Amino acid sequence: MKKIPKILLRKVILFTLFIFFINSCINNSENSDKTKMEKNKISINKENFGKYDGKNVYLYTLTNSNGLIAKITNYGAIVTSLIVPDKQGNFDDIVLGYDNLEDYIKDSPYFGAIVGRYGNRIAKGKFILDDKEYTLAVNNGNNHLHGGIKGFDKVVWDAEEIDNKEGVGLKLKYISKDGEEGYPGNLEVTVTYTLTNNNELKISYEAVTDKPTPVNITHHSYFNLAGAGKEDILNHELMIDADKYTVVDKELIPTAELRDVKDTPMDFTSPESIGSRIAAVEGGYDHNYVLNNNGKFAKVVEVIEPQSGRLMEVYTSEPGIQFYSGNFLDGSNIGKNGKKYNKYYGFCLETQHFPDSPNQPSFPSTILKPGEKYGYTTVYKFLL
Ligand code: BGC
Repeated sequence: MKKIPKILLRKVILFTLFIFFINSCINNSENSDKTKMEKNKISINKENFGKYDGKNVYLYTLTNSNGLIAKITNYGAIVTSLIVPDKQGNFDDIVLGYDNLEDYIKDSPYFGAIVGRYGNRIAKGKFILDDKEYTLAVNNGNNHLHGGIKGFDKVVWDAEEIDNKEGVGLKLKYISKDGEEGYPGNLEVTVTYTLTNNNELKISYEAVTDKPTPVNITHHSYFNLAGAGKEDILNHELMIDADKYTVVDKELIPTAELRDVKDTPMDFTSPESIGSRIAAVEGGYDHNYVLNNNGKFAKVVEVIEPQSGRLMEVYTSEPGIQFYSGNFLDGSNIGKNGKKYNKYYGFCLETQHFPDSPNQPSFPSTILKPGEKYGYTTVYKFLL
């Protein structure tokens, strides 16, 4: 047998080593891409968002196993972005908001915020509790709205990151002092947001007090399932499982009447587009629906945007939901990416007790007493 020349053998060995090296480089870069992808999934990222009241404000980016993203700041416990896919798998931000803290501080119609101590209105900012009259801050005409001048949407919350089997989240705490905005009692509030791997934004509300006080905390995201700032929400098809709503006067204060929705433009018991009858509702939709859930945690809303195919369900045990069709948006709020938010560009679905309950003996009570625990959960679930 002929001997292979040494020089050729060396070349073959070098060539094999070279091929081996190239291969391992390709594999490595594939692996690092994979880790990057995995890192993009199920994660919490914290960045500085500014300062307010001498406290640090952060922006937390939560990503679930399917790539859905919720951005939340501890200023006002605000959800600044909620990025979910459409039927083609294209991700888009479906809540209204701002790019920076300064804009939230300057002027925000409660974009994405936690609202309290009392969501919605208390007539004339007054109520009587245990024979004593309390006077609250008046910030909406003659009335008290969404907790007053400096409600829970305008304070800095303490935040703790959560990472468990269910998903990733943020536990936010705030102590509302006795006398704040006129309310009695020190109220310790905890709001926990979880972005679950089941594509839900789950919000759990808890509170305890040291004096009897009204409590009605809710969430104020303006949704637009077509994508924030693209167009109005009038083509969304909405179902609300409610046979009645609370009738309001000109100042949006309940008259105590619960009226049937049947055969009126208020009826969403079967899916209807938001825009089909809105012209017949003075001022647009801004009403508390009396839910058919009998106080049990249940699906109470389904809303679909036909073009994108995005579908959102709302679950709660609360007795009411405020359906607000963004009637007061007027294009003066320039939102994320310079987009203008015109009238009807977003809708809110605020799970709650009924407005003005402290003055309405026929409504379910909103008074929390020392030793009791306030608590409920609302889920906004995204499907295709
Ligand atoms: C209320 C509206 C109010 C809006 C503020 C809604 O929850 O129902 O009446 O104008 O919040 O942005």
